[in-house]
Amino acid sequence: MTTTQRRGFNDTVTRFWSFAAPAYDQRCLQRWVYRPAQDEVIAKLRQHGSTQIADIACGTGILADRIQRELRPDEVYGIDMSEGMLAQARKRSDRVRWMSAPAEELPFEDGFLDAVVTTSAFHFFDQPAALAEFHRVLAPGGIVAVTTISPHQPIPVLQAMSAAVWSPAHNPSESELLALFAGAGFTVADQHRVRRPFWTPISDLITVGVKPA
Ligand SMILES: C[S@@+](CC[C@H](N)C(=O)[O-])C[C@H]1O[C@@H](n2cnc3c(N)ncnc32)[C@H](O)[C@@H]1O
Repeated sequence: MTTTQRRGFNDTVTRFWSFAAPAYDQRCLQRWVYRPAQDEVIAKLRQHGSTQIADIACGTGILADRIQRELRPDEVYGIDMSEGMLAQARKRSDRVRWMSAPAEELPFEDGFLDAVVTTSAFHFFDQPAALAEFHRVLAPGGIVAVTTISPHQPIPVLQAMSAAVWSPAHNPSESELLALFAGAGFTVADQHRVRRPFWTPISDLITVGVKPA
């Protein structure tokens, strides 16, 4: 098993997030850590003109709800494995379709969506399997936008944790992401670092792929 394959910890990850869900929406945490990446994803969706969008590992539903309210697409789906997170999400909006499913096995027909996005969760996925699934559910010309947590410089303790087989998370490097996207059949349209309100040693990287027509 390589580090980017299934870590086999979906139950542990789900249990943790069900427990953490009530603390997740804290204002400072959202504004400084999660919102900048979500802003970039919304800008990409707006630029693409996406109409059938799924937010994978949507957590408490902040991004999916914003997509619905700010872009008014035909349909927004919020997908997560954690019932605790989905319970918070359901309270947030009744216009987003919330569904419980793993990123690696999505409840959509082939080519059903024109955009798949995921923020701050890709490190938990079986990354090749999730990207293959995103490719399957996207129509030709559809886009995938993935934001991942990434240190500016290698941090040895994080590298060791990320590589350890017992770790539920693996943060891929820029080049690993490019290879993963290409391996799943996507053309990479953009990859850059997301700016946060102030400098932090770890920030997000956004990678956008297109399913060739
Ligand atoms: C840090 S939260 C991110 C939530 C949201 N995307 C955001 O940006 O605020 C990580 C979420 O990923 C979900 N998750 C982790 N692995 C998953 C998988 N394989 N499939 C679906 N959801 C998963 C967890 O349940 C949790 O809700």
